[in-house]
Amino acid sequence: MFINCAVFDAWQVAVLQSVQIVLFALITAPSIAAMTTERSLQRFGLLYGSSPAMAAMYRQLERVASTDATVLLEGESGTGKELVARTVHQQSRRAERHFVAVNCGAIPAHLIEAALFGHEKGSFTGALKRQGGYFEHASGGTLFLDEITEMPCDMQVKLLRVLESGSFLRVGGSELVQVDVRLVAATNRSLHAAVQQGHLRQDLMYRLAVFPLRVPPLRERGTDIERLAQLFLDQLNEDAHTDKRFSRQALEHLRGHPWPGNVRELKNRVHRAYIMASGTVDMDAAPSAPARATAREGVLSFPVGMALADVQREIILATLRHFSGNKKLAADTLGISLKTLYNRLKAYQHAGSSPGF
Ligand SMILES: Nc1ncnc2c1ncn2[C@@H]1O[C@H](COP(=O)(O)OP(=O)(O)OP(=O)(O)O)[C@@H](O)[C@H]1O
Ligand SMILES: [Mg+2]
Repeated sequence: MFINCAVFDAWQVAVLQSVQIVLFALITAPSIAAMTTERSLQRFGLLYGSSPAMAAMYRQLERVASTDATVLLEGESGTGKELVARTVHQQSRRAERHFVAVNCGAIPAHLIEAALFGHEKGSFTGALKRQGGYFEHASGGTLFLDEITEMPCDMQVKLLRVLESGSFLRVGGSELVQVDVRLVAATNRSLHAAVQQGHLRQDLMYRLAVFPLRVPPLRERGTDIERLAQLFLDQLNEDAHTDKRFSRQALEHLRGHPWPGNVRELKNRVHRAYIMASGTVDMDAAPSAPARATAREGVLSFPVGMALADVQREIILATLRHFSGNKKLAADTLGISLKTLYNRLKAYQHAGSSPGF
């Protein structure tokens, strides 16, 4: 609003200006609500949380971010490992360069070397020109190797060699390539168990764990649970210009739930409850069953909000069902080694989610 002083007396201008201030306050009310929660929640980089567990992590992050040390993150699914990795990058001298996130479990075994290190023209059928890999893309920045324990063992050996020597060959190449990349790796397995079960080579683990960091599960973060829920609700209200509020029952539910899916589960549950609410947000109004994939006529559909690890499990199990349990055919089709397939099935069996192939 623009006030033309020439046509108003001083007192009229004062009244109009106060109206302007009230209007401004009304227009920006939702964002002020969001800021209030933000202020009551401590923040470090992209992470929110004021609990002692988070404060301890911030102190470690503060020290390590400015260095070039390799960070190895260990934490349950949905605890915020990727957000921690992005925060390390953002708070480092590399912030202006690329942050490249690679999910090691999502790249077929036979493609991972070329994906990481690139390839030369003609190195395999279809390699029409030289192509840099993730290491080169991340040059000067940070490379985030997520689900490092899902990387095939032979590739772990190659990765270790590259980390030790600081240089690599593109697939089909003979010229050593050197890049300045800071590495952050993550796993949602226990590092100790991953080494014992053969998912992570011990030598690579020691090389990556220059600075090991445990991202605490949400259930160890006390009142951060309610405050994060309020932050997510404030953000939804702000985006849609609404003013929905948690019921007392919702707050009790937030306190009592164990949150096995951690912050991701909390965020998605708040979102679902928000959609279901007219004015008062009740956590029970949200469907409590986890998002599931559906299979129809050989096509899998996945609802938004499903964890990547769950999507992967559904694809693997559906492919196995498709080939009537023939593991060799399933592994070939999925582009993973038979060993990786066996490892996954064993893990699903441990978690009680394998139908027993
Ligand atoms: N401390 C936090 N503050 C705000 N949002 C958070 C925080 N931690 C996690 N989140 C949010 O929770 C969701 C899950 O986080 P993220 O993807 O980083 O978890 P993850 O540990 O990498 O999970 P996974 O092991 O399944 O890959 C994201 O939407 C992220 O923005
Ligand atoms: Mg992740």
